[in-house]
Amino acid sequence: MDRTAASTPSRTVAGTVVIAAHPQMAQSRVTARLMRRAAMAGPHVDVRDLYALYPDYWIDRTAEQAALAAAQHIVWLHPVQWYGMPPLLKLWLDEVFSFGWAYGPGGDALRGKTLWLVVSTGGTADNYSLAGSHGAPFSDFLPPYARTAALTGLHWMPPLVLHGAHRVDDAALKAFEDRFAAGLSSPTPTPD
Ligand SMILES: Cc1cc2nc3c(=O)[nH]c(=O)nc-3n(C[C@H](O)[C@H](O)[C@H](O)COP(=O)(O)O)c2cc1C
Repeated sequence: MDRTAASTPSRTVAGTVVIAAHPQMAQSRVTARLMRRAAMAGPHVDVRDLYALYPDYWIDRTAEQAALAAAQHIVWLHPVQWYGMPPLLKLWLDEVFSFGWAYGPGGDALRGKTLWLVVSTGGTADNYSLAGSHGAPFSDFLPPYARTAALTGLHWMPPLVLHGAHRVDDAALKAFEDRFAAGLSSPTPTPD
């Protein structure tokens, strides 16, 4: 699906584009808060709320590619759902990371940029262990993201993950939000 005629203008000056995806943003505790924080970061941060931009799932590939082209740092912000990304972000990926643009012959538009995954999970850190209910550390669920970055020449940064999204207290959530904001203002690879 490509709606090139009705481009959504991007306000990216330079720097960072935050691709936020939450199917029920109004009910979000974590993602909505981080998205608001990103929106306050300044003109160098372009926040794109996919479910607000594309309630009909009709993604404007031209506008999305323009937003990515204008940024050096790409952030994916979403709640983990079924061990992966919400459906509209997956569709966005299918549409926007296109052959000949993001990969394949001449597909070098993203090469050298960074990709930072910022997610929350309902499961706790203990749940994400061999003995836990999810049966594996959370890093075991990330190879599709990291390989997508590698295929498109994006530099994969250590993800920022908030486990136990419904259980963490406000102080922990604030601390997480501050780490997110720091990463937005200084988006260089740092140890998690
Ligand atoms: C459809 C759906 C699928 C989910 N799948 C997972 C999952 O695979 N692993 C997990 O830890 N949490 C899962 N969750 C919990 C969400 O990750 C959690 O509610 C979210 O991170 C909280 O962030 P928010 O406050 O922005 O909504 C799921 C939630 C929903 C609604």
